[in-house]
Amino acid sequence: VKKSIALFAVLALAPLSGAWAGEDLMAQAREQFKPIPSAPPALMGNAATKERVELGKMLFFDPRISASHLISCNTCHNVGMGGDDNLETSIGHGWAKGPRNAPTAFNAVFNVAQFWDGRAEDLKAQAKGPVQAGVEMNNKPAQVEATLRSMPEYVTRFERAFPGEKVSLSFDNMAKAIEAFEATLITPYSRFDQFLEGNATILNKQEKEGLALFMDKGCAACHGGVNLGGQGYYPFGVVEKPGADILPEGDKGRFEVTKTADDSYVFRAAPLRNIELTAPYFHSGKVWDLEQAVAVMGQSQLGEKLSDSQIQAITAFLKTLTGEQPKVEYPVLPVSTATTPKPVA
Ligand code: HEM
Ligand code: HEM
Repeated sequence: VKKSIALFAVLALAPLSGAWAGEDLMAQAREQFKPIPSAPPALMGNAATKERVELGKMLFFDPRISASHLISCNTCHNVGMGGDDNLETSIGHGWAKGPRNAPTAFNAVFNVAQFWDGRAEDLKAQAKGPVQAGVEMNNKPAQVEATLRSMPEYVTRFERAFPGEKVSLSFDNMAKAIEAFEATLITPYSRFDQFLEGNATILNKQEKEGLALFMDKGCAACHGGVNLGGQGYYPFGVVEKPGADILPEGDKGRFEVTKTADDSYVFRAAPLRNIELTAPYFHSGKVWDLEQAVAVMGQSQLGEKLSDSQIQAITAFLKTLTGEQPKVEYPVLPVSTATTPKPVA
């Protein structure tokens, strides 16, 4: 009788302990991650009015803010391709190959600072970079302003988006409008977010295993918060530096920003939202396979050789981070006029 009572107790407890394990996982995950909100966050000093967002969208898609009139923000941050170009490193003005992989523009508003090395503090500061970068759009602020001013519809739209300002149409306000549009490029409702919001059965067993590993092994220490990353800077190769095939010697990351030796090969922990859509991986874009990227991280950041099944589970978890993609209606852009500066090759 004693035996059967003991057996009964075990059987009665078994399903309970399973349920507890599930709730623990959710509780632990809620401490480390946050779901993407359903509406864009407010921006400091930039009221995202309808007029401003719409203008920002036009500018994001308008290749005439590049010197060649060929390259738009969307060329490298394609809103139909996870917000990036799926190239090793971007191709810009005159087919110049840039030094780094393009990060996604989606959910970038939640990153603490922009770029692989965090050198731009927000999206407004960021947007002025590519327009002027030689290997990107290769343009000058005055030329961009002249181009936009040559089209009456842009003049009116800037006035409506920035009412009451002495000079509404300016390079600065271009960046502000783009920032307001970019803040709408968020991807809520991923399966992982639904899990965080209380749906315990939305992830399968392997994905839950992957999530548990992601937290227990220490990935979440660097890849936490809303974007599972994008918050802090760490050496690429905390424990073991990857080879030059993945971590080219020429790019020292944050060292270029701070000029501090400690910041050699320090990069921003990459945000992992929609990661299955944004291969190839790392700032060098040298790794095309997400499982390989996970294995590299295990080795370089944790000093741990993850088993195949652990790598597969973590990768399965990372794929639950794909959210609802922004639905962007392609804008009709104002036609160039006789005074619009001509494209330069
Ligand atoms: C980085 C937006 C044009 C290639 C970024 C980031 C944003 C962004 C928000 C930072 C993302 C992050 O750090 O997580 C824009 C906008 C553009 C534009 C608004 C138009 C004004 C371009 C173009 C190219 C390009 C035309 C390619 C030729 C890149 C690359 C990075 C980057 C390579 C990473 C650079 C680094 O970390 O040093 N862009 N982008 N972008 N973008 Fe763009
Ligand atoms: C980049 C996953 C642990 C810091 C990445 C990327 C993935 C990833 C997939 C590439 C993202 C992209 O290219 O867009 C993981 C996993 C981890 C882990 C699964 C646990 C096994 C860590 C830890 C740290 C860290 C513990 C900090 C000590 C970074 C940094 C990058 C990165 C700095 C950017 C590297 C670069 O310069 O390209 N991580 N990570 N990661 N992770 Fe992790």
